Amino acid sequence: MQDAPSSFWMASTPGTDYPEIQQDLQVDTAIVGGGIVGITTAYLLKKQGMKVAIIEADRILQGTTGHTTAKITSQHSLIYARLKQQIGQEMAQQYADANESAIHLIASTAAENNIDCDFSWRPAYVFAQSDKYMKDLEDEAQAACSLGIKASCMDHSPLPFSVRAALRFDNQAQFHPLKYLKSLARQIPGQGSCIFERTTAVGIDENPLAVITRQGQKVTAAKIIIASHFPFFDGGGLYFTKLNPTRAYIVAIKAQEKLPEGMFINAESPSRSLRSQPYEEGELILVAGESHQAGSGRNMNAHYQNLLDFAHGNFEVKEVLYRWSTQDYRTLDGIPYVGHLTSKSPHIYVATGFGKWGISNGTASAMVLSDLITRGDSPWAQVYNPSRFNLTAAKTFVGLNLNIGKNLAAGKISRLPEGVELSNGEGRAIQIDGEKYGAFRDDNGELHIVDITCTHLGCELNWNDAEQTWDCPCHGSRFNYTGEVVEGPAFNILHPADQCPNAVEARVFE
Ligand SMILES: Cc1cc2nc3c(=O)[nH]c(=O)nc-3n(C[C@H](O)[C@H](O)[C@H](O)COP(=O)(O)OP(=O)(O)OC[C@H]3O[C@@H](n4cnc5c(N)ncnc54)[C@H](O)[C@@H]3O)c2cc1C
Ligand code: FES
Repeated sequence: MQDAPSSFWMASTPGTDYPEIQQDLQVDTAIVGGGIVGITTAYLLKKQGMKVAIIEADRILQGTTGHTTAKITSQHSLIYARLKQQIGQEMAQQYADANESAIHLIASTAAENNIDCDFSWRPAYVFAQSDKYMKDLEDEAQAACSLGIKASCMDHSPLPFSVRAALRFDNQAQFHPLKYLKSLARQIPGQGSCIFERTTAVGIDENPLAVITRQGQKVTAAKIIIASHFPFFDGGGLYFTKLNPTRAYIVAIKAQEKLPEGMFINAESPSRSLRSQPYEEGELILVAGESHQAGSGRNMNAHYQNLLDFAHGNFEVKEVLYRWSTQDYRTLDGIPYVGHLTSKSPHIYVATGFGKWGISNGTASAMVLSDLITRGDSPWAQVYNPSRFNLTAAKTFVGLNLNIGKNLAAGKISRLPEGVELSNGEGRAIQIDGEKYGAFRDDNGELHIVDITCTHLGCELNWNDAEQTWDCPCHGSRFNYTGEVVEGPAFNILHPADQCPNAVEARVFE
């Protein structure tokens, strides 16, 4: 297995090199974020004759989209029976239609543009290995069928281990997400449209409407889309109270046997999700799971080991070729927020909160946003409306924000050792003269000390030993050990120790 995590999708496609922004410009729609949402929306809008600009803080497609499992499915574990009960048949129908249509949009776009992206139609299965979920699978099959999805419940699956029951959706698919999206991205620049990389958006001016970049340039636009995963601009939408980050892990193995045709996920916890992927030497099996609250927990490497144990227990593993991890946000009621940023922002749109199903939901978002912008309405606008508030949301709101409050307070009051011994490659939170810092010793023995107060809203960061990053348990920001932002919503770096009052490096034992 490689020493450092690396995504197969990123390793198997060439990097991109779009320019940084150099001057102010004007377009019809400015889109912040170059993940599946930003790129698909830009592609759809440009196809309809609009001038678009994608503004990407890093390189495009290196965020969650570059680290996904990339199943293209409307089977979002078990969701339809719950949706029907919580929001009714009509809204559940919108959700099912949006996601089924997204599968077909990806299929037709890949075909029309001759994109070689390993797209293949596959059934998707949820399997249960205990009796506990048998009724849930039956209820889900019934709910999905009532919404027009071709679903069936069975007492077996094609998997090489026994299951108690399985729920099968037909006509689902899988692909190589970066081969597909990098190809779409190549069609965006030109005729007044552009992609900017290494260009961080830091704010929005509302009059006239413009995205403000860190370098100070303005991208003036009639419409702005926030596709930055966690919204980089809140605008009164209170998204920091409505989105919960969870992290999960993927290992890509070469096995003696092939994965039976299909994509699989278990009903139980811990989650285990499987799909195959062709590569130059045959087939990889992707084993994903181990979901947990982002920015919390101690031994993150253990999550990779747990997935490997599962792989060894069920396949004859010949080699472990890749491993990587990433995170996604879940909304209060489990349905993404897609549409107007708030009910008072007619020209600013958002798409976020995909709960680990943003390949289909993200593509559906692009369809919703492009319809809202070009036609003023979308058949699925209501179910995704970010300003909705229902009973489920109200209940989850209290729990989520108690947890964020607890994380804010815990960071301030917890006690840590006054100085600590660190080996090379080790990081940990320490206390120096009553102040908290994060210390990491790199492979050359050099010590890096940063203030571990998150520059988003001030929660205390925790060390992630698998990624060697400081991660925030509140809204998922991540920083490398020198304090640079790896992932937002924060966009300011951590204060280095020499800017922290009373920091004394010598207190970390050499
Ligand atoms: C482990 C895991 C497995 C998954 N598997 C599946 C799956 O099989 N099927 C499925 O449907 N979904 C899956 N998902 C979910 C899916 O991958 C995500 O929901 C989706 O990729 C999110 O896309 P996005 O465009 O919203 O965000 P991203 O891909 O993260 O893109 C956002 C971009 O915005 C940029 N950005 C952020 N802030 C700024 C700023 N201030 N200025 C400029 N740019 C900025 C970032 O750099 C980033 O490039 C999975 C998620 C996880 C965690
Ligand atoms: S406080 Fe919001 S991401 Fe850290």
